[in-house]
Amino acid sequence: MDNESIPKHIAFIMDGNGRWAKARHMPRKYGHKHGVDAMKRVIAACASIGIEIISIYAFSTENWSRPQDEIDELFKLVKRFADKELVEYAKDNYQVRFMGDLRRLPDDVRLSLDKISDAVKDNSGTIINIGLNYGSRDEIVRAVNSLISSGRDSVSVSDINAALDTCDLCDPDIIVRASGEKRLSNFMLWQAAYSEFIFIDDYWPDFTEETVNRIISEYRSRDRRYGGLKKA
Ligand code: FPP
Repeated sequence: MDNESIPKHIAFIMDGNGRWAKARHMPRKYGHKHGVDAMKRVIAACASIGIEIISIYAFSTENWSRPQDEIDELFKLVKRFADKELVEYAKDNYQVRFMGDLRRLPDDVRLSLDKISDAVKDNSGTIINIGLNYGSRDEIVRAVNSLISSGRDSVSVSDINAALDTCDLCDPDIIVRASGEKRLSNFMLWQAAYSEFIFIDDYWPDFTEETVNRIISEYRSRDRRYGGLKKA
C-alpha cells in the first residue's frame, strides 16, 4: 500500500458485544471479554500496516447508566488490559493515551492506567488513544471552561483544538462503527468534521485483521475533498 492511502488516524466505536454474547446464549460480560480480544487484534492489524494513531471508544459518559455489575466488569477488563499489556506494549514501542475525564474512574483502575502510561512514556511508535468516561460534549465543555479560566474572552478553532483531550493528535481520517448501527453516540464530534464514516455490520468481537483490510480498501475508494473540488 502506498503511503497516501494509509490513514494516519483511525477511530473505532466498539459496538455489539452484548448482542454477540446473546446470540451465543452467554452473559454480556462474555461479549465484553471477547471485545477486548478483538480490540487487541484490531490494534495489532492497524499497527502492522502503518496506521499511526488508533482511537478506541471504551467507556462513554453515558455508559454509567448501565447496571453496576456491568460497569464493574468493564473496568475490571480495562484494569486487566492495562496490567497485562504493560510489558508487551512497552517492548513493542506503543504509546498509550487516554481521553475523557479520568477523575471519575475507580482508584485502582486509575493506578493501572498511570502504570501503563509510565511504562510506555519513552516510546515513539503507534499511539493507542483510549476513551474512558469520554463524551465529546463533555470534552468540549471542559475545553471551553479551561479557556475561560485562562482569561480568554473569545476563542478560535485552534484554541479549542489545543484545549481538547486530543490536542496533540490529528483528526481521525476514518471513524468505524461496528454492529450495523449508524450514529456517533457522542464520540469525537468536533474531530469528526472531515472523517470518513465506515459502518460495519459485524459485531465488534468478530472484528479481525480481515475486517481492518476491508475498512482500508473502502477508505481508499472514497474521494476526500474537504469542501474543495475533486483533484484533476
Ligand atoms: C459496546 O457493546 C461495548 C462497550 C460499550 C464497552 C466496550 C468496552 C470494553 C470491551 C472494555 C474493555 C476496554 C479496554 C480499553 C480494555 P454493547 O455492550 O453496547 O453491545 P450491545 O449494543 O450489543 O448491547
